[in-house]
Amino acid sequence: MPDRDVPAVPRFLPYGRQQIGDADIKAVVEALCSDWLTTGPRVAQFENAFARFCGAAHGVAVNSGTAALHAAMRGIGVGPGDEVIVPALTFAASANAAVYEGATPVFADVEADTLLIDPKSVAARITPRTKAIVAVDYAGQPADYDALRAAAPGLPIVADACHAPGATYNGRKVGTLADISCFSFHPVKHLTTCEGGMCLTENAEMAAHMRRFRNHGIDSDHRARDAAGTFAYDMVELGYNYRLPDVQCALGMAQLLRLPEWLLARRAVAAAYAKAFAEVPHATPLAQREGREHAYHLYVVRLAPKIDRGAAFRRLRGHGIGVNVHYGPVHLMTFYRERGYGPGLCPVAEEAAEHILTLPMFPAMSRSDVARVVEAVAELD
Ligand SMILES: Cc1ncc(COP(=O)(O)O)c(C=O)c1O
Repeated sequence: MPDRDVPAVPRFLPYGRQQIGDADIKAVVEALCSDWLTTGPRVAQFENAFARFCGAAHGVAVNSGTAALHAAMRGIGVGPGDEVIVPALTFAASANAAVYEGATPVFADVEADTLLIDPKSVAARITPRTKAIVAVDYAGQPADYDALRAAAPGLPIVADACHAPGATYNGRKVGTLADISCFSFHPVKHLTTCEGGMCLTENAEMAAHMRRFRNHGIDSDHRARDAAGTFAYDMVELGYNYRLPDVQCALGMAQLLRLPEWLLARRAVAAAYAKAFAEVPHATPLAQREGREHAYHLYVVRLAPKIDRGAAFRRLRGHGIGVNVHYGPVHLMTFYRERGYGPGLCPVAEEAAEHILTLPMFPAMSRSDVARVVEAVAELD
């Protein structure tokens, strides 16, 4: 963490922020000047580089984290009549992906101190129709994958790892813990391709299926057709155009080189916050479990019940501190309420959602940025 007095962003301190440098710009310009703006060689290069970073066998690049989750549903074979268990406290896309494929999300509760999906709640929600579990590595801490496997024997697990590239669970890397792991490269995430995402898997067949799915369900790509000397192709299932262009893959590759350094910077910011908040009884950071190395996409504190969270949000925003709330429970969103979900389904998530606050967390934060946030939160009492 830079030990300087000048804040990284003097006026407004957002909760997350991308970092774009000369190497990123050069990589993008080179791609723009190449023969391939999309469907070219940089796609596989980025897939391989990111898969290698995470220790996974196969990467399938797509144009958002949402598309990655949708592709994962198709890769697992989720369809109409199936149920998919999803934590209640996540971004809506974690659940929407099941709906895209005609399946029914079943919301599981979260653990009160980590806000990670609660394996006991998962076990209680399994039915003969359960087709898959979506585990969200909330804020950047891996879910308890061993407990989830034990709770749901034989059921495929999709990791919504959009918050957690670079995190580990008992020495194993996020990206290798689930049947398919999904990542987002939105600018607030660890590395960005503007919009973008990727699925990682050890399963070559699932990877091939998701690759076809991101390209309209067409059974060959232009390289295969060129090699075979044919123009003919078949569309064997309904897919989408979820392709990630080469220009964006070039940015992703340049960003990836800096990810190890950025992870260290995020962990340094988290350590500084943890030390400071030990002295602030009305703002408690989320718990961290033994054996899990956190990637710190988000830094979330739980405010004491006596603090009015709405007033706190407005006051901190008034100080130029871009606090946020991740998330309102998905089952309480209008779309889901209109489909029969409602309050009381996931009481731990519903209670937590009233008191959590996301504080600024990004690699370029300085010590004085952290001090400014802590001081403003301490004054809320
Ligand atoms: C947990 C989680 N899942 C899915 C997504 C969707 O990713 P994207 O915005 O790249 O579609 C996000 C991004 O905000 C996320 O935080």
